[in-house]
Amino acid sequence: MIRKDAGTLGDMARNAQFEDLFATPVFSHVLRNVETLNTELRELILERERTTPSMAKSNQGGWQSAPDFFRWSEPPVAAIESFIGHAISIATLRVTAQPELQFGVELYGWAAVNRKGHYNTTHVHPMATWSGVYYVDPGNASEDTPSAVLEFAHPVTASVMTFFPNVLPSARVVKPRAGMLILFPSYLQHSVRMYHGESPRICVPFNAHMAMVGKGHGPTPAS
Ligand SMILES: [Fe+2]
Repeated sequence: MIRKDAGTLGDMARNAQFEDLFATPVFSHVLRNVETLNTELRELILERERTTPSMAKSNQGGWQSAPDFFRWSEPPVAAIESFIGHAISIATLRVTAQPELQFGVELYGWAAVNRKGHYNTTHVHPMATWSGVYYVDPGNASEDTPSAVLEFAHPVTASVMTFFPNVLPSARVVKPRAGMLILFPSYLQHSVRMYHGESPRICVPFNAHMAMVGKGHGPTPAS
């Protein structure tokens, strides 16, 4: 018979190894002092919406530009591209914890305008590394409804069925704010719930394709 003395059990409770393996990194920051920039971007994007047909992607209703946003020549576009570039550097360093690694980054994005009743179906962004969104104007939906929130689905579908369902979260929602910049791994499934506000909801989704320059390392060995 195996003895279970208090010391052994206490030692396990205090010292057992526990790690959150394969966590999903999501970067979120609300930029300061971008009110003027957002006003300029808002006018610029709404003008493009008036003069350019929409692309069809995951949007159900609404307008999306071609994925050439960062090639637009207007100065506010370069400002946002710079902010996003810094965010990608910060997030990549946080994830890899290897400051010496060098990455080439190919960034492309598109402007998006949603109005009442529009939403985005669940999707991923294939072949990118980081995906993200910059919120120019979150619109004016009521605080009471979960309108136009960005919803991330649990990346391991089976866990939702079998691993503490209804106890552990199966999704995470992010409520957009003006000046908010979000980054997430491109494999992470997400959607945008239907927008119920009256004023246009404007954002700039984007993808960053990253290729490492130089050598990294393979899997971390089990201990
Ligand atoms: Fe998306």
